[in-house]
Amino acid sequence: MEPLVSCTCSVCGLVPRAPLLHGATELVAESAAMQRTLRRVARFAASSAPVVILGETGTGKEVIARVLHANSARAGHPFVPVNVAALPSELLESELFGHGKGAFTGATTARRGLFEAATRGTLFLDEIGEMPLPLQAKLLRALQDGEVRRVGENRSFAVDARIVCATHRDLAARVREGAFREDLFYRLKVLTIRVPPLRQRRDDILPLARHLLEREPGAPHGLTDAVRARLLAYPWPGNVRELQNAVRHGAALASGPVVDVEDLPEELWAPGGVGACDGLDAGHPAPEQLRTLAEVERAHILRVLDACGGSRTEAARTLGIARNTLWRKLRDAAPVE
Ligand SMILES: Nc1ncnc2c1ncn2[C@@H]1O[C@H](COP(=O)(O)OP(=O)(O)O)[C@@H](O)[C@H]1O
Ligand SMILES: [Mg+2]
Repeated sequence: MEPLVSCTCSVCGLVPRAPLLHGATELVAESAAMQRTLRRVARFAASSAPVVILGETGTGKEVIARVLHANSARAGHPFVPVNVAALPSELLESELFGHGKGAFTGATTARRGLFEAATRGTLFLDEIGEMPLPLQAKLLRALQDGEVRRVGENRSFAVDARIVCATHRDLAARVREGAFREDLFYRLKVLTIRVPPLRQRRDDILPLARHLLEREPGAPHGLTDAVRARLLAYPWPGNVRELQNAVRHGAALASGPVVDVEDLPEELWAPGGVGACDGLDAGHPAPEQLRTLAEVERAHILRVLDACGGSRTEAARTLGIARNTLWRKLRDAAPVE
């Protein structure tokens, strides 16, 4: 793992680098909104209290969690990420808490859970809003008592992992719906960090695009003025992840030393993109340029799907519709030419 550089940011006092399994990730935060967010991260890094990171999908919640950890007293210990939404309930329980020998069929040996793996470090619970209710009860107990019990065992033992959670959901609304425990909500939300969507921090778009382009092996080194204008005008519903995909697309298709507009994904060809029609950045297009609702819906679905790296489950969640509905809409809708 690359050593952390010692230079700190003069604005927030953080080392803006977070270790990853392979190398390090560097945080780009030029906008005033992101710098405010980082100053909060810097204050919270000193504490061991749980943190909830809120923000739309692709805004950089995991990057923020890693920077928080890397700047805390726990930095020399593991950062353990778990995507709560990716595993079925029983598997998630034994992943988090571990299991005893013979706890269930196939449990031939005892296994420690991720809580234990994160000892003296940080346990990052991504998509906490999707955590099944029985597990929420177990997490609450672990937070209250500082102890966990492996599945199929009677004894509990102390754990010392800082809990950092992230969600793109409105957790208070999940509480009202009965999908999230109120007591756990209050326990977790003491320290809250909101990562603003990219469309609210346009000063980050070009520095991020340059940074992401540099990370593409053998990529062109520049962007044309027209590309820069398109990037700035686009509403970025998939946030930094979508920008990353657009930059990769541009880098892969560019034939010369710079990325041009036609190298970008199709949504970026028109100034303002499809967003010009979906109300996010409404301009005043001529009536014949306007698309039908079905076309806009399909284009938006494809954009979200792209921003979610092709995952239909995540795309459906982001869109707030069932996976079946997403599938039906993609099958039935007329393709956009
Ligand atoms: N401020 C940033 N600087 C550099 N890269 C970023 C930044 N924010 C996000 N990214 C990159 O964008 C992608 C999505 O970020 P991630 O933290 O996974 O988003 P989220 O967890 O909110 O969905 C990752 O590849 C991440 O490295
Ligand atoms: Mg994430």
